[in-house]
Amino acid sequence: MRRPPRTAIFPVGGLGTRFLPATKAMPKEMLPVVDKPLIQYAVEEARASGIEEFIFVTGRGKSSIEDHFDHGAELTEVLSARGKETELRASRDMMLEPGQVAYIRQQDPLGLGHAVWCARRLIRDEAVAVLLADDLIMAKEPCLKQMMDAYRVAGGNMAAVMDVPRAETNRYGILDVVGEEGKLAAAKGLVEKPAPEDAPSTLSIIGRYILDPLVFTELDRQEAGAGGEIQLTDAIARTIGRVPFHGFRFDGRRFDCGSKAGFLEANIAFALDRDDLAQAMTDIVRRYAKALPPGKDAAS
Ligand code: UTP
Repeated sequence: MRRPPRTAIFPVGGLGTRFLPATKAMPKEMLPVVDKPLIQYAVEEARASGIEEFIFVTGRGKSSIEDHFDHGAELTEVLSARGKETELRASRDMMLEPGQVAYIRQQDPLGLGHAVWCARRLIRDEAVAVLLADDLIMAKEPCLKQMMDAYRVAGGNMAAVMDVPRAETNRYGILDVVGEEGKLAAAKGLVEKPAPEDAPSTLSIIGRYILDPLVFTELDRQEAGAGGEIQLTDAIARTIGRVPFHGFRFDGRRFDCGSKAGFLEANIAFALDRDDLAQAMTDIVRRYAKALPPGKDAAS
């Protein structure tokens, strides 16, 4: 049995160009779904999965993320004075313990692989988890927890995967699958953002990883891949053959909150899932659905 990771890396150094102008002065990861920033969902998922150490790889203009996980002294004072116990508890519960969290800067956004590599001196010689906050996952059991349980048996490198339409393979890291057993898909290769006609499958990686330390050795090469960026999938791909790689088909629904449509859908889905908002959101959706011209697909 392998010991699952204790440490998680949260790369939040990207520019979020698909979400401009919202992301000009505000990190994409601070966009709220209903009333909680994306990064908080990711941190809560990691915490509920057993993660004890949290490393944020940030960049310029991202300091609101640090503030979000710190005391809001003035806010606490006002809430206490007004007797707002529920709000006080909520803001206290989301705090990470002193010494449990570290921030490191990625000075230039050279790619996800580079962002993860920036955390190399803050981790031990053991497996680490990586969570991308803009992939928001709604699941009964946290996605990372599901992966950790599978990791105990499978070890190696692991990434959450799902099937995507073939036309979209050029947006993802795609698996070259050799065999499937239960929720695990073993791969003999990984291709970053292949054109649909070149994609070895439609099984694509989404933003949850468990990484073997060997990946950091590969990241040391600092080789740029697709789009001129240092790609995490390239480094993982180079370890295949030395350590196993598995895609993990998680139970849950993933929302691509790095895209506007995905973000809007997440807001609807998470509101419908909340006792205090389900009725209001149902009414809103019904009202708009009624106003749609017949024959038009609302999702397009
Ligand atoms: P994306 O591919 O979504 O890139 O990164 P992005 O820059 O955030 O957004 P777009 O495509 O320009 O709209 C996936 C994840 O990797 C992080 C991002 O913050 C995001 O969580 N990332 C990406 C970094 O931390 N550093 C990088 O250099 C690139």
